[in-house]
Amino acid sequence: MRVIAIANQKGGCGKTTTSINLAACLSGLKKNVLLIDLDPQGHASLGLNVQPQNLAKTIYNVLTTDPEAKLRLDEIIVPISENLDLAPANILLSAIEQELSGKPEREAKLFQAITLMVSKKTYDYVIIDCSPSLGILTFNGLRACTELIAPVDTGFFSLHGISRLLETVNLIDKRLNCQIKVKALITMFDQRTKFSHEVKDEIYKYFSGNVFETVIHNNVRVKEASSYGVPVAAYDKRCRGAIDYIALANEIDSPKSKEKAKAVTNSAAEKITSFIEEVQHVKKGTVVTFQSDNARNVEIAGDFNNWISSVDSKLERIDNGVWAKVIHLKPGAYKYKFVVDGQWVTDPNNPNLEIDEVGNRNSILEVK
Ligand SMILES: Nc1ncnc2c1ncn2[C@@H]1O[C@H](COP(=O)(O)OP(=O)(O)OP(=O)(O)O)[C@@H](O)[C@H]1O
Ligand SMILES: [Mg+2]
Repeated sequence: MRVIAIANQKGGCGKTTTSINLAACLSGLKKNVLLIDLDPQGHASLGLNVQPQNLAKTIYNVLTTDPEAKLRLDEIIVPISENLDLAPANILLSAIEQELSGKPEREAKLFQAITLMVSKKTYDYVIIDCSPSLGILTFNGLRACTELIAPVDTGFFSLHGISRLLETVNLIDKRLNCQIKVKALITMFDQRTKFSHEVKDEIYKYFSGNVFETVIHNNVRVKEASSYGVPVAAYDKRCRGAIDYIALANEIDSPKSKEKAKAVTNSAAEKITSFIEEVQHVKKGTVVTFQSDNARNVEIAGDFNNWISSVDSKLERIDNGVWAKVIHLKPGAYKYKFVVDGQWVTDPNNPNLEIDEVGNRNSILEVK
């Protein structure tokens, strides 16, 4: 699975148009695609004719920490076509910045949700349409991806503020010891003007050649298609915009590009481990782990959380059937059990046990 974020804090540079049309064209190549709308404006949802204001379940429910409202990513999905699914957003998502502020792992919520998705089908691509801001929402998009497409239009202010986006990517790379592959996509290109060509050259210089060969031209059909709530290839498959986005999907799905992406994905396991180590080190947390290839959901409950198993006590699924969670406890001895797909299970890897008065076998966790 390749997770690609489409981000640039400059407004109106073609993020949503690229997200919708790239997702649709990849699904046209018979790839299973999930498009995540990560913008409270809900434009990616609207652009696929999903009226977000009427939806009870959106990406807000996935990112929230409110246990009453919390849902898994696969629980909010709206099917668009055979190979294309949408995780919609609406204005409610604007509350999440404040809701998550100051919360632990606030930038990792989307990453965790993608990891914990229990889907009937396996996605080849997850495309994330980010909002035009560099807040917690976009941070979640960047943290979840291994590849980033920065659409850059060929207007006067096209490179304005792009350095902040690249700085943020560098920060995530350093913190998580990974390397998000960043590539610029030239959008709304008008080949008749000298100015467009000059800006194009600037973009190549700025991104040291990390620019897609495919250029998205300015084409009125693209705008028209989005107002009808359909991808441009479904609206007029012969127009310039459709040809450009089909070419982009082919470029991204080419064996060369896949090979590079695989190298990035392979480092994902290391990335998670180092993330856990970092959190453990910084916050002096305790890592609990559980091994199971078949479990769909693992939570931990004990006397430290009043034996309440909830979304907040969920373990994250890591490669090779390992589930893990960082918990923050003061020094002492704590009783606990895992709750695996609704069943209470004693930790099989912890010989330190206590049998209570009614015969319950509880594991003991000692925090020094
Ligand atoms: N190739 C194109 N040709 C013509 N119009 C386009 C093209 N790409 C995008 N547009 C139009 O430009 C406008 C802005 O595009 P879009 O919504 O994709 O930008 P955005 O970066 O997602 O904006 P925001 O920052 O608000 O999220 C839209 O009206 C869209 O239809
Ligand atoms: Mg947008």
